[in-house]
Amino acid sequence: MNSTQEQLKLKLVQALVAAFGEEFAGVDPILVAASNPKFGDYQANVALSLSKKLGKQPRAIATAIVEKLDVSEFCEPPEIAGPGFINLKLQRSYLEAQLSAIQADPRLGVPPAPVPQKEIVDFSSPNIAKEMHVGHLRSTIIGDCIARILEFRGHDVLRLNHVGDWGTQFGMLIAYLREVYPQALTTANVLDIGDLVSFYRKAKQRFDQDEAFQEIARQEVVKLQAGEQDTVHAWKLLCEQSRKEFQIIYNLLDIKITERGESFYNQYLPAVVEDLQKVDLLEENQGAKCVFLEGFTNREGEPLPLIVQKSDGGYNYATTDLASLRYRIQQDQAKRIIYVTDSGQANHFAQFMQVARKAGWIPDDVELVHVPFGLVLGDDGKKFKTRSGDTVRLRDLLDEAISRARTDIETRLKEEGREESEEFINHVAEVVGISSVKYADLSQNRNSNYVFSYDKMLSLKGNTAPYMLYAYVRTQGISREGNIDFENLGVDAKILLGEEAELTLAKHLLQLDEVVSEVEQDLLPNRLCDYLYQLSDKFNKFYENCPVLKSEEPVKTSRLVLCHLTAKTLKLGLDLLGIRVLERM
Ligand code: ARG
Repeated sequence: MNSTQEQLKLKLVQALVAAFGEEFAGVDPILVAASNPKFGDYQANVALSLSKKLGKQPRAIATAIVEKLDVSEFCEPPEIAGPGFINLKLQRSYLEAQLSAIQADPRLGVPPAPVPQKEIVDFSSPNIAKEMHVGHLRSTIIGDCIARILEFRGHDVLRLNHVGDWGTQFGMLIAYLREVYPQALTTANVLDIGDLVSFYRKAKQRFDQDEAFQEIARQEVVKLQAGEQDTVHAWKLLCEQSRKEFQIIYNLLDIKITERGESFYNQYLPAVVEDLQKVDLLEENQGAKCVFLEGFTNREGEPLPLIVQKSDGGYNYATTDLASLRYRIQQDQAKRIIYVTDSGQANHFAQFMQVARKAGWIPDDVELVHVPFGLVLGDDGKKFKTRSGDTVRLRDLLDEAISRARTDIETRLKEEGREESEEFINHVAEVVGISSVKYADLSQNRNSNYVFSYDKMLSLKGNTAPYMLYAYVRTQGISREGNIDFENLGVDAKILLGEEAELTLAKHLLQLDEVVSEVEQDLLPNRLCDYLYQLSDKFNKFYENCPVLKSEEPVKTSRLVLCHLTAKTLKLGLDLLGIRVLERM
């Protein structure tokens, strides 16, 4: 099934060709949702854009198009407004038929991608022995949502965790581990050194203060590179401990991801440098091997080099990204690679991508996308920190959200005089707490910074997870109250859109496919949030204005179908955001 918008576009292009000739077959009819429902549902602005080219008044062009335009199966007769807009209003009977069609469709009218492809989403990607901070939280939530949407569209998605598990800092960590836990290196398969982050801090202190220690640390790096057994063992112990901590967060957030850390690409690093040499891109600069970039300059305005091998022979973050890029294209056969990180890394991505392009490593059919996002701020407008000024531990942050959600529920239950089991309360608190954190993040345009506020994200009012979850609960309440099994309403149930509120809701339900393909293109999850927020709002208006259980047949069944479709759309939409629904709350 083609979306209504697509079909209307097709018809408009046909009319353009009929009116002005074949050369207009490729013109975009600029069909957008109408700015005001007064003007109908869609508006085509093509007449205005062609005025110069055709040397005619836009209104005259619009008239010529409309004369040839046959949209009678979808719309009321088209109208021309203002300087030359073509306004289209969908017919009631068309909407009724479309709704019937999606009612029987488990995909709710969202077609699978016509050409499914291999897509890699590189997200989350914390660093071993370092804090997983709110930046990683954003990457995790946004990356997961993007992956879910691509999966739903039928793409072959590889979710990759590009964990920072390699580099010279491991020399320092391993040397310190040898000092404080000598026994761990020979006996243990698991390590309990407590908080890894404070371990890191202490190791760093030791490193900064003692030159002899620095030398030992450097030797450990050499041994790690050479694959010496007990150094590698120590490295694995450190990774394992971090991994366990990351996993706690992934479990709480319901995240599936495959770890393929930086160390994986270690063996491919020398070839990156050799191949850059072969295509003559490499230059020596104070002993370092680098590629000079276009469009990037240092403070003095001189061209900026991207160092791919340091003078001591070591490699960089960028070298690893070049190696991983080649691996993902050659071995994984990825057609689109999506990197989700904070916008602070935008230059890094632009730089190594430029080098890869110059080297001819990116085939024409492969797309590379950096998906940047802004900062999480505290209510003081500065980077989100604890009161004492430390970075916030993600576990604490999520636990706090759950515990506040729990307090909210307990208060509400008391007010309503309701008794619920401990199990129920725990479940609702966890779903509400986690959903609120996710939704607060996803509902912002990811390019901007946002202020983290538990109060705001947990509020039952506004564009929040609880508001959305509550709308879903309301639909389920209708089915419980009327003792109606939504699934058994019958696919042949007639849909009647008599009231304005029904029409408005119906039109919105039919736009899910447009939103999903938009997000697939622009990778902006907040669009899906906006869509769901408006859906809840339109559903609430419908619910206030149109009695459901108290109305007579055949209106009653038709309205029940609208409730069911709203419920299914909310559930699917929230699932694409990584949010689970509740039957009751
Ligand atoms: N580990 C990096 C960080 O914490 C993020 C890695 C992102 N992915 C990549 N391929 N560079 O900032």
